[in-house]
Amino acid sequence: MPKDEQEFVVTPWEVRGEIDYEKLIRDFGTSLITDELLERIKKYTGELHPLLKRKIFFSHRDLGWILDRYEEGEKFFLYTGRGPSGHTHLGHLVPWIFTKYLQDKFDVELYFQMTDDEKFLHDPKLNLDDTAAYAYENALDVIACGFDPKKTFIFIDTEYAKTLYKIATQFAKHVTFSTVKAAFGFDVSTNIGLIFFPSIQAAPCFFPSVLKGKNIPCLIPAAIDQSVYWRVARDVAPKLNFYKPAEIHSKFFPSLMKGGKMSASEPESAIFTVDSPELAERKIMNAFTGGQATIKEQMEKGGNPDICPIYHYYKILFEWDEKKLAEIYESCKGGCLICGDDKQKLAERVGSFLIEHQKKRDRAKDVIEDFILRD
Ligand code: TRP
Repeated sequence: MPKDEQEFVVTPWEVRGEIDYEKLIRDFGTSLITDELLERIKKYTGELHPLLKRKIFFSHRDLGWILDRYEEGEKFFLYTGRGPSGHTHLGHLVPWIFTKYLQDKFDVELYFQMTDDEKFLHDPKLNLDDTAAYAYENALDVIACGFDPKKTFIFIDTEYAKTLYKIATQFAKHVTFSTVKAAFGFDVSTNIGLIFFPSIQAAPCFFPSVLKGKNIPCLIPAAIDQSVYWRVARDVAPKLNFYKPAEIHSKFFPSLMKGGKMSASEPESAIFTVDSPELAERKIMNAFTGGQATIKEQMEKGGNPDICPIYHYYKILFEWDEKKLAEIYESCKGGCLICGDDKQKLAERVGSFLIEHQKKRDRAKDVIEDFILRD
């Protein structure tokens, strides 16, 4: 619990406060992605994705090892997922867009988990029909990102249970209550579904290896709040004769309101993929910014793009051109950029993005079964 404003909290269920990412790396025992690693990635990808260049994906475990294996001709698979507790917002798309880039550049398979069970177990207001329905809704957004249907496998925990459960059970035998208590902050009042759940989220690290009958390296792109799951998974992996999963972690997508990240439970803090361009514009126009109270003050003192969600929207999704992004940054700092104009411009971009995305999302309804794994 934070004792004062300076403290922050990052768990798989809660992200709060001003986040110190370097401290997170130390606390979680992960590593910063070095320039040397970036150079190695570049050998395979050509241009680096802006999300790597801008250090939005900033931390990892065993990424060098994944590249070693790849160099020796041993392909990895990608594993990521989504807790379907509501509609997809733009922040969710960021790791998926990055995952699609990795799939294209390395020509690898993606296994995508929908943890409808987790969200049901965690949220007292949701029933299992709600979370399964959101899983299908959210899958449309995943597919709309452009993944290759031949190499992309989406599965919903409660529906793919036959395959998942067997691996999860073998995993669970090696995890004590004391371990998950320490890792996830569970206590004796936590429901037992949640206590078992880490083994369900760990299982996909291994099931392509089980399905194919040989050990396959796993790379997980995910926001850094998920890294506790993989820490437990990595401890158990050797006991089951599997490779430890490798990870690449992103920062969070900021809320449109002050502090914190976009959250599906606070509709005004996020833009959802199903929002109309008009609604998105309204949310953007009402957003918190790093600007001064008046235009006069803004012109005199300049704004603060570093704390401004509008600037971060450009940085994370809406301005991939480095020069143009730098221009926005400088003109905001220099006071020539007025928040109202900046918001208006962003709202136009977000609006056209939503229209395009919604078209792709509609088309995804016809092909969804090509992506869903069944057992
Ligand atoms: N627990 C994640 C969430 O709440 C969903 C998830 C499952 C996931 N498997 C994953 C996320 C693998 C990233 C990578 O969103």
